[in-house]
Amino acid sequence: MKQVYMETFGCQMNVADTDRMEQLLFQSGYLRTSAKENADLVLVNTCSIRDKAEHKIYSLLGTIRPLKKANPDMTLALAGCLAQQEGETLIKKFPYLDMVLGPDAVERVVEAVDYVKTQKKSLVWTEFDQEKKYSIPISDEPAAKTSGPSAYVNIIKGCDKFCSFCIVPFTRGREKSREPYEIYEEVRQLVDRGAKEIILLGQNVNSYGKRDMQPPTPFHELLYGVAEISGVERIRFTTSHPKDFTKEAARAFKDLDILVNQLHLPVQSGNNKVLERMRRGYTVNEYKALIDLLRSEAPDIAFSTDIIVGFPGETDQEFEDTLELMEWVGFDSSYMFSYSPRPGTPATEMEDSVPLEVKKERLQRTIDLQKSLSDRNAKKYIGQVVEVLVEGETVHKDYDFKGRSPHYWMVNFSGGQKTLKSGGLAKIYIESASGHALRGTYRSPN
Ligand code: SAH
Ligand code: SF4
Ligand code: F3S
Repeated sequence: MKQVYMETFGCQMNVADTDRMEQLLFQSGYLRTSAKENADLVLVNTCSIRDKAEHKIYSLLGTIRPLKKANPDMTLALAGCLAQQEGETLIKKFPYLDMVLGPDAVERVVEAVDYVKTQKKSLVWTEFDQEKKYSIPISDEPAAKTSGPSAYVNIIKGCDKFCSFCIVPFTRGREKSREPYEIYEEVRQLVDRGAKEIILLGQNVNSYGKRDMQPPTPFHELLYGVAEISGVERIRFTTSHPKDFTKEAARAFKDLDILVNQLHLPVQSGNNKVLERMRRGYTVNEYKALIDLLRSEAPDIAFSTDIIVGFPGETDQEFEDTLELMEWVGFDSSYMFSYSPRPGTPATEMEDSVPLEVKKERLQRTIDLQKSLSDRNAKKYIGQVVEVLVEGETVHKDYDFKGRSPHYWMVNFSGGQKTLKSGGLAKIYIESASGHALRGTYRSPN
């Protein structure tokens, strides 16, 4: 078989796209390798969410250039959001690149590789597909790799929110949902292949099924549908948008035992004026009311979030409001970022007024606060027995296995060697915590 080396930057949607391309390439005779030197095809799936993400990709391209020189038959492909954003420019900047594929070209990856190999010409495919619906056909072909206990399933692509700082609506296009029957079929197949936990994916899953679907299927109905599929033991979903989160979806946390009580709910800022400039479409009080609603349905629900510091015009006081909100919610974890201007987004019209030093200092303060919130939350689990979905052996020298708790904490634990394997559920007694990981001892199987 021919060899393909693949590298992924960015979010879970990119990870899922890389998996899909791996599967399609596998069907056409490519096996994934971890050594790029010998690869027939090198495919980098890119991200352009922040300046830093872009730069990492440019430096990776620099390291691939000599490989391509040594092996001119190697095909070099860039896919994903940076590819969509830059298009033709990439070929001009890096003439040794063979192809540039936007996110909507994922299904056509084999056709693209064949074109480049036979025509001996580079190509740029960045037009958005014209289909009304999003479809990822399911086939019975053998899988390129065994799925672990957790599997991602795309349910919606694109984003129509146009937050003023964000490149995603430009790189991923308009929102389009997959038909429920196709999603259920994929879930059944993944379960047959060993998946226990299904993670439903999209930039805004709460917007699922709103458009071009007959009959319309709101997101919560999809959750109930997936929960009925036998063999699914846990369900998660990401990412949620506070503005589109319905009370019916909140109710699902109460009704569905296998929908774990953990939610990633990006807030971005704790100040109304900043939220308005960001065009997030909700106020701090609306966000808090949603948290209260979710807690009334699922009292032990754990939250994580995304925060941007140093958005144009953010004052000291506005920043302090973000710290206050983080404290109020008591997030288990946060992904925290310095604002980074993105080409063509409305926020670039606003003056990037917060000096770099101040951005850095604010970022550090959110990191410090989050650390103390995480430490505080971790203590709640000490002395408790939690159910862990076993991922496999841990590299941690004092423990045997690792896995995730329902609240999405990594758990390293000792014991259970005779009975446990990847994909099993186990009851673990938690004895201590360190960073965003818990440590404990095996008690019993599920
Ligand atoms: N769809 C999700 C996440 C999209 S991108 C949502 O709506 O929340 C992931 C995170 O990257 C965002 O939540 C935001 O916190 C961050 N991000 C996006 N654009 C950014 C920018 N220009 N500068 C800094 N952080 C950014
Ligand atoms: Fe970007 Fe906003 Fe869409 Fe999230 S909801 S992907 S932050 S535009
Ligand atoms: Fe990056 Fe595109 Fe995801 S910009 S974060 S890979 S949607």
